[in-house]
Amino acid sequence: MAAPDSQRTDDWWRDAVIYQVYPRSFADGDGDGTGDLAGVRARLPHLAELGVDAVWFTPWYVSPLVDGGYDVADYRTIDPAFGTLGEAEKLIAEARELGIRTIVDIVPNHVSDQHAWFRAALEAGPGSPERERFHFRPGRGEHGELPPNDWPSQFSGRTWTRVPDGEWYLHLFTPEQPDLNWAHPEVRREHEDVLRFWFERGVAGVRIDSAALLAKDPALADFVEGVDPHPYIDQDELHDIYRSWRRVADEFGGVFVGEVWLPDAERFARYLRPDELHTAFNFNFLSCPWQADRLRRTIDDTLAEHAPVGAPATWVLCNHDVTRTVTRYGREDTGFDFAKKAFGTPTDLALGTRRARAAALLTLALPGSVYLYQGEELGLPEADIPRERIQDPMHFRSGGVDPGRDGCRVPLPWAADAPYCGFGSETEPWLPQPEGWAAYAADRQSADPASMLSLYREALRLRRSTEGFGDGPLDWLPAPEGVLAFRRAGGTVCVVNLSAAPVDLPAHRAVLLVSGALDGSGRLPADTAVWLRA
Ligand code: GLC
Repeated sequence: MAAPDSQRTDDWWRDAVIYQVYPRSFADGDGDGTGDLAGVRARLPHLAELGVDAVWFTPWYVSPLVDGGYDVADYRTIDPAFGTLGEAEKLIAEARELGIRTIVDIVPNHVSDQHAWFRAALEAGPGSPERERFHFRPGRGEHGELPPNDWPSQFSGRTWTRVPDGEWYLHLFTPEQPDLNWAHPEVRREHEDVLRFWFERGVAGVRIDSAALLAKDPALADFVEGVDPHPYIDQDELHDIYRSWRRVADEFGGVFVGEVWLPDAERFARYLRPDELHTAFNFNFLSCPWQADRLRRTIDDTLAEHAPVGAPATWVLCNHDVTRTVTRYGREDTGFDFAKKAFGTPTDLALGTRRARAAALLTLALPGSVYLYQGEELGLPEADIPRERIQDPMHFRSGGVDPGRDGCRVPLPWAADAPYCGFGSETEPWLPQPEGWAAYAADRQSADPASMLSLYREALRLRRSTEGFGDGPLDWLPAPEGVLAFRRAGGTVCVVNLSAAPVDLPAHRAVLLVSGALDGSGRLPADTAVWLRA
């Protein structure tokens, strides 16, 4: 249950609204075309006014940026393109003064090939202790010319790369992201130290990248479709790793959110047992099409799988890896699936935006915490990045078939009339802003009560000040086909109309907020949501 500010306790994360900052694209403080910490510090008032409880920063560490910073060369240093450690400390403190906690992103599955450990491993050669921190193996075939196994990559292509001395090393993502060997005690010790390092700097939580991939089948046996356990997803050893991480977090009152993509609800919930991770992202909700029955089933399954372990659910519509919500909801297929991404998929942005507004009210009314990806509060669409400007390795590794993830990473528009929409750059930003971006600028939306930004601000304000939002029970109410209606403990009712025709509202005392407008007879139009006081 959302408590008034004065009573918010250590359990803040059970009903928090957490804003995801992709630092490269949030705001540019020094004008060089890349977002940075100075930019974030200058824009903290935007986040405070929006009313979020915490900010999750995608990796800001030293990185060659082969995978947008998820290729970390040093977990304790800020990339000079973003700023300095001193600035990060100031940012954490300034945000906290505004009531905003900080969550950092830790990438434990792999490091950059520029990380000191990997460079030492290359230099030290086969059989060395330095190589044991990674997965180096001789190849198969007569001359070791074949990779040690056939594991499929998380990004298309091979998971093994051969080095000049003939050995191969494992990388579930790009060759520039060698996987660490989590059976090695130094790997475990080092990460626990890194967690301490950031908790000591005042961060309140840690997002764990690719959290279900760290442990590997020790035999590195070939992948056999349909045979459990998968050789590198959801291995049982992971739970022991997260139990010791939890002991570190508990020293500081820190919390975890795991990036756990697992279709099996029972296996997923195991990560959320009371001595493991506090929360994990709910990707089933993010992937779910805009259909009442499918959404209801996903919501019910989510709540049912979290209940036995006592963990709050998380709700997320978008992040830096997936298609922007207004674009996805305006397509014929409104679900999200990495495998289905293609260039030129048509979308109806007006329809998608109507649905995204309704989805915002749905999401913010559900029990648990909510993640809000930067630019969603502006209703930004997925941008078509010209092929020659694409930077995402997912695009290149697919042989140019997958458009990649840059379309949701475009530098934010802050001021309609400023160069580069007020992103702050004096030269062209690292990714081009599409035609018409100024129409989405925060300053323009701020002044418009009908804008997406105004809707989010008002919804967050109400969610915070109204009893019964956040963690707690949800009761479904009878509703016509294609309509979701539920009541929260404080008596607030949320109705979402996913059918094609307007519907009558249930009896109520007041309308708190509508994602669109009620029709002349007070009915709720298609693709619209409302919060009512019952
Ligand atoms: C996670 C990140 C993604 C990154 C990948 C490899 O899925 O969200 O952006 O490419 O891990 O680190």
